[in-house]
Parts: sequence; C-alpha cells; structure tokens
Amino acid sequence: MSDLFIELTAPNGCKYTQPTGLFINNEWVKSKSGEKITSINPTDEEEIASVYAAGPEDVDIAVAAARKAFKDPTWRDMSTTARGDLLYKLSQLIDEHKETLATIETWDNGKPYSVALNEDLAEVVGTIKYYAGWADKVHGQVIDTSPAKLAYTIREPLGVCGQIIPWNYPLLMAAWKLGPALCCGNTIVMKAAEQTPLSILYLANLIKEAGFPPGVVNILNGEGRKAGAAIAQHLDIDKIAFTGSTATGREIMKMAAVNLKNITLETGGKSPLLVFDDADLDQAVKWAHTGIMYNQGQVCTATSRILVQEGVYDKFISEFKEYVKKTSKVGDPFEDATFQGPQVTKAQYERVLSYIESGKSEGATLASGGVAYKDVGGRGFFIEPTIFTDVKDNMKIFREEVFGPFVVISSFKTEEEAISRANDTTYGLGSAVFTENITKAHRVARLLEAGMVWINSSNDSDLRIPFGGVKMSGIGRELGEAGLDSYTNKKAVHVNLGTKL
Ligand code: NAI
Ligand code: MG
Repeated sequence: MSDLFIELTAPNGCKYTQPTGLFINNEWVKSKSGEKITSINPTDEEEIASVYAAGPEDVDIAVAAARKAFKDPTWRDMSTTARGDLLYKLSQLIDEHKETLATIETWDNGKPYSVALNEDLAEVVGTIKYYAGWADKVHGQVIDTSPAKLAYTIREPLGVCGQIIPWNYPLLMAAWKLGPALCCGNTIVMKAAEQTPLSILYLANLIKEAGFPPGVVNILNGEGRKAGAAIAQHLDIDKIAFTGSTATGREIMKMAAVNLKNITLETGGKSPLLVFDDADLDQAVKWAHTGIMYNQGQVCTATSRILVQEGVYDKFISEFKEYVKKTSKVGDPFEDATFQGPQVTKAQYERVLSYIESGKSEGATLASGGVAYKDVGGRGFFIEPTIFTDVKDNMKIFREEVFGPFVVISSFKTEEEAISRANDTTYGLGSAVFTENITKAHRVARLLEAGMVWINSSNDSDLRIPFGGVKMSGIGRELGEAGLDSYTNKKAVHVNLGTKL
C-alpha cells in the first residue's frame, strides 16, 4: 500500500486518515527526493508520523500548477459569486471536520484541545466565511476626469502567491492567508512549518472536496531553508506572505527581491502593556495574564513587557502572581482543566529556559516559575509560567522576543516615561493600555508605535479588523478589508471618448 495515507489514532481516541504527501494539483504525491520530516508530539516527545518534505524541484512543480490554474478560465473567469460559494463551502466543511482538525492541532502543537476547538477552529471557519462574503464585493472605481475620458480601475489578483506559515497557529495562519488570497482570485503555493506539518494536510483534502479547481491551492511541507527559500526566490511567484520570526522575515525579503515580489510580512514583537495608577486593576491583571500566557506564550502579539505605574506596582505584582498561579494550570493538553500545554518543540523549550537563565544572571527578580514543569509523566516540553520583576530596560529579557509563558514587569513614574520606554524597541506589533481616563487612553494610543493598540484589554483581535505591525514587526496588513489590499492590484483603464491628438 502507498504510504501517502496512514491511519492514526490520537491520544483522545480520535481515529482518522492522515495524508502524508505533497498536495499539488488536487493530488497527493511524494517528494521527488523522497525526503521526509518527522512530527513530534510535544506532550510525550514521541513521534507521531513522517510526511514528505518538498525540495526546490517539488516547489517548481507546485508553482507550475498554480500558474496554470491562475490562467485557466475555470478559475480566472469564474463569477465572483461562485468563488464566494467555494469559500463558503470550504468553511462549512472545516466546521464539519473541526473535532478532527482540533485533535490534530493539539497532538502536533501541544495547545489545549478546548482552545484548538473553540477558539482556533472557530476562527478558521469564521475567517474563510468572512472572505467568502468579500468575494463578490471587491470592486474597482470609475474616476471622473473629463467628458472626453472614461477611466476606471479593476481590482485584479496578483497571481501566484507563496505563503509561508508558522507553527503557533498552524490552521489559523493558513486561513488568514487562504481566505483573502482566494477571494481575490489568486492561486497559492503554501508551505506549513516543519514543526507542525499534519493538520494542514487534512485541510488540503477539504479544499479539494469544496470544489476548488486543481492547482488553485497547493500545499507543501518542507524545511524553511529548502522549500521555504525556494518559494521566496521563485521567479514565477508574484507575491510572498510570511508569518514568523523577524530574522527569517528579513531573509525572505532579501530573497523576494530577486523578482521584486509583492510582500506581506508579519513578524515578531515585544509588545508592551501599560498599567496606569487609575486602571481597573482586576481587569488589568486578567488581560495581562491572557496577553502573555495564552497559547503557551507563543503569540506574536503577546504583551510580554508589562510596565506598571509605581503607585500600583506592588499591588499589581501580587495580584498578577496570584492570578497566574490560580489560572495557568499546566498539564496534558487533552485534559479539560489544562490552560497551558507544552512548548511546541524541544528547541523552543530550550530557548525559553535559556532566557530564564539570562534573566537570573542579569539580576532581575524571579517572582514565579523559572523552571521546567515535570508533572506530566516526567516528559514533554512543559515550562512553569515565569514572571520576572524589577526588570531593567537594557536586560536581554526586556528587549528580545522569548515566545513562551514568560513575562517581564517593570515600574514607571510618568505617562511620558511610559510611552518612551514602551516605544524603545525595534518592534511595533501590539500594545495595551490600562486606564479609566478616556482622554489619557486615546492620547497614549496615538503615541504608541504599534500596529495595534488595545485599550483596557490585550490580544483582543478580531478577523474583521486589520492585523499587522510597524517597525520590524512587519509590512502590510492581514484580516478585515485591509487584507484584500495585500492580494490585489489596481489596474487603471483609460478610455478615450473624444480627445483628438
Ligand atoms: P521561523 O520564522 O524560522 O519559521 C517560520 C516559517 O518560516 C516556517 O514555515 C519555516 O519553515 C519558514 N522558514 C524558516 N527559514 C526560512 C527561510 N530561510 N526561507 C523561507 N522560509 C523559511 O521561526 P522558528 O525558527 O520556527 O521560531 C523562532 C522564533 O520565531 C520563535 O521563538 C518566535 O520568536 C518567532 N516566531 C514568531 C511567530 C509569529 O507568529 N510572528 C511564529 C513562529 C515563530
Ligand atoms: Mg509537533
């Protein structure tokens, strides 16, 4: 029997057929080299499955399929309403298969099953449905100049889009990129992260089942430096959309220069959360917890730097510690009570532990956590929620993205100081402000150098609202109507109605 499909039983008893190939032209194929990558369960460090890994020669085949599909009248000339119907059908299929998809996500990534099902999958369905609704509403304009001329614009798709996604929200990041690209009529070569290669392959079957023509969506697994780089450098790819680290984003931008690809980058952050003396402290504590501890702290917009005004600094710390202790229950992600599962990989686990060492050696106060968590069978990449206080601005843990259940807290005196220290970073993704003074809230929101500001909340994003960063946190926007700009060109058509040369 072919090894392109294997029967698996997940730890929660869910049985399903896992595809293992590359999804090109609506078919499953092996990689030309036969190379594979192995996916690991971060809860027990056991192997789940091996899947085929694409190399540059496979990327070439996928790009050719995507190019052919882009030019094929079946897709190119499809009515916009029919395109919306396909996306809507896909959202329904995902909804029907959400338990299986959430199971795979939890097994491979380590996020709590309840979160995968009720939050990630709900947003995946919502995002595809949202962009289904946009498909027949992407209009050009008529631009009035004079009676002798008719000028209008057409919003046309960019072409073949390379999409490189990370491991922290495998299906959700796929949805954020598939939805807007498909609703505007592009075709896609997507590469999933090598740490979480499984759920995307199950999703690929649903894309075919929804009725998308062959070649419109091609999905590959493979290593960043091989398959990812081949996509970023490909001369027949028109656009690259990437979510991941700032370092890799910079590499991709350089590679994409080879043919001046249109780019959207969504990269790292060290997002500040400011708590003023006049804040509702209960709310600040709760949102600050979600803002950094959600998804094992593996969130690009995590508010990982908390700055608290000196009048409430001690009180905030004691209440925050208490709340983290009570709420951040570490454990098996398939157990209902678990808030925090393992870090995604050994590399990420070791990275977080190394920042803990760094914080200690630089002299910050370790207020809680700071060690691996060993009570889940003595295995897995679990870390106790970690809080450092009295952190100074020059410390590595204040400046660098850790990407774990790891937060630094520092105190400030004035509003001016808070803003200048919040902005003293190369990043500019999220930010949060807690105050009951509405004037101050909006004043500070304008001055924060960030793509997103949450007033009296944190990480409260919404698929209808633009998402993205400034400075080294990225280029361009995803989600909302703004997400369409990342996947369309405005073609100008000039019609001469009487001007004589
Ligand atoms: P990464 O940025 O290297 O990986 C993200 C994606 O890029 C993966 O699909 C990977 O295969 C691909 N990739 C890697 N190198 C590439 C290359 N040279 N050319 C083309 N594609 C390439 O991130 P990694 O190494 O998994 O995690 C390191 C750190 O990155 C994390 O600790 C975290 O700080 C940050 N990160 C941020 C994310 C976000 O949501 N903004 C998501 C994942 C990681
Ligand atoms: Mg894994």
